[in-house]
This record gives sequence, C-alpha cells and structure tokens, in this order.
Amino acid sequence: MQVIILPTAHDVALYTADCVVDVVNSHPEPVLGLATGSTPIALYNALVRHYKAKQISFAQTKSFNLDEYIGIPATHRQSYRSFMNQYFFDLIDIETINTYVPLASSLDTKVLMNCAQAFENDIKLAGGIHLQILGIGLNGHIGFNEPTSSFASRTRIKTLSESTIKANQRFFEEGEFQPQLALTMGMGTILDSKSILLMATGKAKAQAVKNMIEGPLSAMCPASALQQHSTAMVVLDDDAASLLELKEYYLWCEKKRQQLHEGSLI
Ligand code: PGA
Repeated sequence: MQVIILPTAHDVALYTADCVVDVVNSHPEPVLGLATGSTPIALYNALVRHYKAKQISFAQTKSFNLDEYIGIPATHRQSYRSFMNQYFFDLIDIETINTYVPLASSLDTKVLMNCAQAFENDIKLAGGIHLQILGIGLNGHIGFNEPTSSFASRTRIKTLSESTIKANQRFFEEGEFQPQLALTMGMGTILDSKSILLMATGKAKAQAVKNMIEGPLSAMCPASALQQHSTAMVVLDDDAASLLELKEYYLWCEKKRQQLHEGSLI
C-alpha cells in the first residue's frame, strides 16, 4: 500500500485529480470508479477546473459509482445520481449513458438484485475499472460495505450501520426520509479494480485510517482489505494521518520514490 501524506485537504484533492487526469489521458477508453460524500467534492471541483482548462476530456470515459440509496428515485435531490450530476457529470463532457450509478429506486428485492447483477455485468463489459476512487467511513467502510462485509462480496443490498446513518444525518433536513438501505459495489467488486485510490481528510478519520493501514486485515474494518490489493494508494492530509505509528516512514518512502523518479537514489 502506498501511503501519501500531504499538508492539507486541498493538496489531497489536487494530487488525486492529477492521478485521475493521468489515467484518463493514458487510456483510449478510460473506466473510472467514483465515490460520493463530502471528501471527493474538492476532487470533482479540481477535475472540472482541469476540464475547463482543456487539460482533460471525459468524452470517452465510462464511470461506475460505488453506491446508491435504496427507495428514493434517481431524480430525488438526496440520490447519489443527483449528487454526481450536480458536482461532476453536468459540468463536464461525459456522456450520460456512460455514467453508471446503481439503480436502486425500487423497493422490490428481486428488481434490486437484478439491478445489482446488471451493474456487475456492465463493469465487466466495460473491461473493468482502471482507477477506483474511495472515501472511508468513520467505521472503516468503503462504498457502503459496512463492518463485517465479506471481502468476497459483490454488488448487493446492504443495511447501513447506525454509525453511517448518524454520520450522514447532516445531509438530511429534520423530518426528511433518510434511507437505511443501499445498493453497493461489493468488496470483491472494488478489489477487482486495476488500481485504487482512497482519499481521507480530517482528524475524525484518523482512527479509521490507522485501522485500515496498520491494523489487522479484518472485516471489522472493511478498508483494511486494501492491504491485499497490489496497486492501492491512500492519500491523506496531515490530520487524517495523525495517528499513524509509521507516519515518518511513509513520508520517507515518498521522498525516496520521488528521488527514484528523478533518477537519483542518493
Ligand atoms: P465523507 O464519507 O467523505 O462524507 O466523509 C466518506 C464515506 O463514508 O465513504
């Protein structure tokens, strides 16, 4: 796991945006895995700036979002489809037909399971995900894979944990319906991505980040599964990295990597 520690959340967004630009510009038909939540908003803002500066086009890109709430229509302002349209898709040149967000508005289990299977098939048909962007929950979830999710799980219906429902309450008005179920990419689906970049910022995430990087491989911290991925990168601000035991070592590794890149190891 490559651990990159940068001074601020703004730096994390800029660094991650550069990684996305590299992937999109180096594949004729790029496939991105995308995330919602407050952390990636700054990433989408940075990518929109790159697009407006004509440094990137998403015309050939396909995207697959990690998850969607069950039981609200895609057009609802609280849906993750609406989030993606608002912060990213409506502001760039990606074709709507190439943007996949799990279809989860139905309340019929069979319909939802079919949608989950169709989503998996669509990823396969696209040739797999080149770069999957992730955030991390306070409880270590990735996507809506809550603690105890199987590392082999595929896209499916998931019951949200109390911790996640509480953490996401801030996005809902008082009295507004807040979904307790979601359709989420599975752990196995995420781990199939060719490369993974998890972004985390702020002190509140420090414990989850420590569990992910330095804790045991455990379904109690789903993000720890990234330890088993050959091309996983974790990009942190100083606050999110504040509990890491080997923080100095990760900074040292990055310095060495930089020197290697510049052709000098001394
Ligand atoms: P956040 O959510 O970016 O809003 O903190 C991250 C997540 O739950 O995956």
